[in-house]
Amino acid sequence: MGSDFSEENATQAVVDSFGATGSPRLREVMESLTRHLHAFVRDVEPSQQEWETAVTWLTRVGHTCDDKRQEFILLSDVLGVSMLVDAINHRKPPGATESTVLGPFHVVESPRRALGADLADVHTGPRCLVRGRVLDLAGRPLPGAQLDVWHADDQGFYDVQKPDAPEADLRGLFTTDGEGRYWFRTVLPAHYPIPDDGPVGQLLRATGRHPFRPAHLHVIAAAAGHVPVTTHVFLQGSPYLDDDTVFGVRSSLVRPVTTVDDEAQAQRYGLDRPFHAVDFDVVLVPAAAPADDDEPS
Ligand code: BEZ
Ligand code: FE
Repeated sequence: MGSDFSEENATQAVVDSFGATGSPRLREVMESLTRHLHAFVRDVEPSQQEWETAVTWLTRVGHTCDDKRQEFILLSDVLGVSMLVDAINHRKPPGATESTVLGPFHVVESPRRALGADLADVHTGPRCLVRGRVLDLAGRPLPGAQLDVWHADDQGFYDVQKPDAPEADLRGLFTTDGEGRYWFRTVLPAHYPIPDDGPVGQLLRATGRHPFRPAHLHVIAAAAGHVPVTTHVFLQGSPYLDDDTVFGVRSSLVRPVTTVDDEAQAQRYGLDRPFHAVDFDVVLVPAAAPADDDEPS
């Protein structure tokens, strides 16, 4: 018989219990989880009551999840874990558009729209043109690239949060033209709070944190032969650029909102002058060439 479980040998005992794990990766993960979790408990020394409170709270996080609400992802977001996992998995060379979290609002398929289309079925708030190009790392345009865009309205709400919103409002799927360009009309999005009526919101309040994200548009850009990127365009001057509650801001993704007061451009884009404009180019990294032994024989 082995020695009794004790404060001193607890960690090694649990690590050893995973010794027969068939998958080397699962074994590595469970050993590391055990070491870090035990280190946390040794550091914090929770009372029995505190541990029960933690378990009850995590149970509430689970009970808050359904097919439309994912409170565990929200917890991962506000702890910076989602962005850390994203950063580890999307290391990019200089000049490439940086990656960010997808967020919980990419829930419906964006409708395919023609270049220049209006994303806003209801025109409340300042009108805006969003335009740019999809490029490769050498600055060459990528014609036929796909750009999936979704964003909140001028009150900070996504269509799926509003019972009366038109279907797929403020969402669109575009294909770049022969020069890699895209452009569309919309309304300027506002900053907004993440869903904070559940246990994650309770945690934010208990720790003196706010639930806000700065104003942004979400973008997924993809082109043949390139690694797709899930990213954001953040609007310069928005509140919370320096303290996004989900740690999603990268300064390379912040763009100014300019004012265009030019009749020719107003006519060209179908907007009243003056209108706002946001310029955002996306730079994609080439997909890794298949290794020799991946080649079909
Ligand atoms: C979003 O921007 O849609 C989002 C991202 C992470 C958590 C909540 C919202
Ligand atoms: Fe968002």
